[in-house]
Amino acid sequence: MKIAIGNDHAAGALKAVIVDYLKELGHEVTDLGANDGEMCDYPEYGERVGRAVVSGEADCGVLICGTGVGISIAANKVPGVRAAVCSETATARLVKQHNNANIIAFGARIVGTELAKDIVKAYLDAEFLGGRHQVRIDKIREIEARG
Ligand code: RB5
Repeated sequence: MKIAIGNDHAAGALKAVIVDYLKELGHEVTDLGANDGEMCDYPEYGERVGRAVVSGEADCGVLICGTGVGISIAANKVPGVRAAVCSETATARLVKQHNNANIIAFGARIVGTELAKDIVKAYLDAEFLGGRHQVRIDKIREIEARG
């Protein structure tokens, strides 16, 4: 899969680990920053990844900030993004199965390296179940359309 990844200054080290892990799994990774280690503002990177996913440049995205919350809120402002913050693997699986989340987010200050890898793997291995879940996603799109 083509996977876009982004982070803020709180998550550079974990992002590097996840980029390597995704490549080990055979994915094509587009790293949209931040990479200079300087303090930065997470909305920029949430938006970059969100737009890459919605445009089809990436099949899905991974976002990491301190908690995973700020960067996912920012990404979710891009119409068509369904970014979900996960701190364990059950939620990571369910956000794909039920919500067809197109971005997974987590916090570098919340989860450790191995758990972060497991979260990403659980998300990528899961499949959207469709059916009644698609009806609910359609209703989310209707909310977006109403503005
Ligand atoms: C940065 O200090 C921190 O606020 C950010 O990484 C994130 O946790 C926000 O949600």
